[in-house]
Amino acid sequence: MSNKNTGGSRAQWASSLGFILAAAGSAVGLGNIWKFPGRAYEGGGGLFILIYIAIVILIGSTAMIAELTVGRATQKNAVGAFRQLAPRWKWVGGLGVFTGYVILTYYTQVGGWVLQYIAGYLTSPGTIFADPKGYFLGNVLGADRFPLGGAILFPFLFIACVVLVITKGVEGGIERFNKVAMPALFLLLLVLLGRAVTLPGAGEGLRYLLTIDLKALNGSTLLAALGQAFYSLSLGMGIMCTYGSYVKKTEDLGKNTAMICTLDTLVALIAAFIIIPAVFATGVEPGKGASFAFVSLAGVFEQMPLGAFFGVLFYTLLFFAALTSAISLLEGTVAYLTEEKGLSRTRATVLSAVGMFLIGVVYTLSQAHYNIRGIWLDGASGLTFPVFGDFLEFLTDRLLIPVGALAYCIFVGWVWGPHRGVAEIEREGVRFPFAKPWGLLVKYVVPAAIFIILFAGMVMGLALS
Ligand code: PFF
Repeated sequence: MSNKNTGGSRAQWASSLGFILAAAGSAVGLGNIWKFPGRAYEGGGGLFILIYIAIVILIGSTAMIAELTVGRATQKNAVGAFRQLAPRWKWVGGLGVFTGYVILTYYTQVGGWVLQYIAGYLTSPGTIFADPKGYFLGNVLGADRFPLGGAILFPFLFIACVVLVITKGVEGGIERFNKVAMPALFLLLLVLLGRAVTLPGAGEGLRYLLTIDLKALNGSTLLAALGQAFYSLSLGMGIMCTYGSYVKKTEDLGKNTAMICTLDTLVALIAAFIIIPAVFATGVEPGKGASFAFVSLAGVFEQMPLGAFFGVLFYTLLFFAALTSAISLLEGTVAYLTEEKGLSRTRATVLSAVGMFLIGVVYTLSQAHYNIRGIWLDGASGLTFPVFGDFLEFLTDRLLIPVGALAYCIFVGWVWGPHRGVAEIEREGVRFPFAKPWGLLVKYVVPAAIFIILFAGMVMGLALS
C-alpha cells in the first residue's frame, strides 16, 4: 500500500493489530499516566475507578464507534467526511481539527519537558532530588532565566520526532512506530508496576485504590470521570474518524473498539497502581497536574533504590505515550491539509509543526512569567497550571472536546442514522451484536450525558480538574 495520502489509492493500516495499536497509541497518553492517577486519588480511589470503567463501557465506546464508522464509511479526513455526508455539518470536522491543533501546541511542550526529565535523570539526578520544585520551575520552565531547554530545545526535539514519523506516512510511519512503541510502553509499565507495589508501605495505596467509599460519590466525581474518559479515549475531535478512515472494510470495528478501550483503560489503571502506592509508600505530597508528574515523583524516585534508573524508565514511558498521542493529533491536521487543501504530506506536516512550535513556546514562557509574578504557587498542594495553561485546558477539555463528541453523536444518532453506522460495521459479513443498545446509546444516553458535562460542569462551576 502506498504511504502517500494524496491522490490515487488512499493510505490504509496494513494489519488489524497495527490499527489497534495505533489507535491505542493515540488514546494512551499524558492523560492516562499523569492525569488519571491524580483524578483517581482525588475522586476517592476505588469509587472513581468503578465509575470511570462504567463510563468507558457505556459512553466512551459508543462515541468511539460513532467516530470510527463515519471515518471508515467516507474514507475521508474529519472535514471531508462531513462534506461528503452532510455539508452543513462540516463545522464539526473543522472544530475537531482546530481542537486537536490547540491541544498539540501545549502537548508538544509538555512532551519536551518529559524529554528534559529523561536527560535530567540520566545526567544529574542529584540536582533534581536536591530541589524538585526548583528544578521544574528553574531548569525546565525558566522562572529565573530563559527556558532554552524547556521551551525551545526539548520541545523542538519532541516535535522533530512527531514530524519524522508523520512524514513517513500512515502505514510506514505511524503504524510501524506504534508497533514498537506500544509493546515497549507496556513492558515499561509492568517493570514500574512491579517496583511500585513491592515498595515497603505500598499496601496503603493499594487499599486506597481498591476500597469503594460511597461517601466520595458526588457530581464533581462523576463529571471528572466523564471528562477524563473523553480526553483519554481521544474522542470529540475527529482523530478516531481520521484513523477509522484508514481501516480496511473487512475489519470488525466493534471488536476493535473494545480492544482500544480496554488497552487505554488498562494503562490508566496500571499507572494509578504505580503512582498512588509509590506516593503513599514514600509519604510524598501528591499534588496536582504538572506537579504530580514532574515534582512529586522526584520525591518518590529519590527514596527508591536505583531511583534515578526508575526515573529514566518512567519518563521514557511518558515520552512514548505522549509521542504516539501527538502523532495522532498531528495526523488529524495533516489529513485535513492534504486532502482538503491539496498540500503535500511533507509540506502539511512541516508547516503545522512550525506553527505549533511557535505557539507552544509562548505556552512554556507564560508559565515562567506567572511564576515571576509569584502567583502560581498554590500552598500545600504544590504547583498548579497557571492561567494560560488553565485557559487552554479549559477550552479544549471542558468545552471543545465535549461539544465535538456531542456533535458526532447527534450527527450519527439523528442525521446519518444509527442504522448506517451498524451497516458500516456489518459489511463484509461482520456481525455487530450490540446494534440495538448502541443505537439507543448514541441517540439518547450519550448526548444527554455530554449535555450534563457541558452545562453542569460550567454553569454549576463544578471543577473537572
Ligand atoms: N488521549 C490522549 C491522552 O490521554 O493523553 C490525548 C489526546 C490525543 C486527546 C489525541 C485527543 C486526541 F485526539
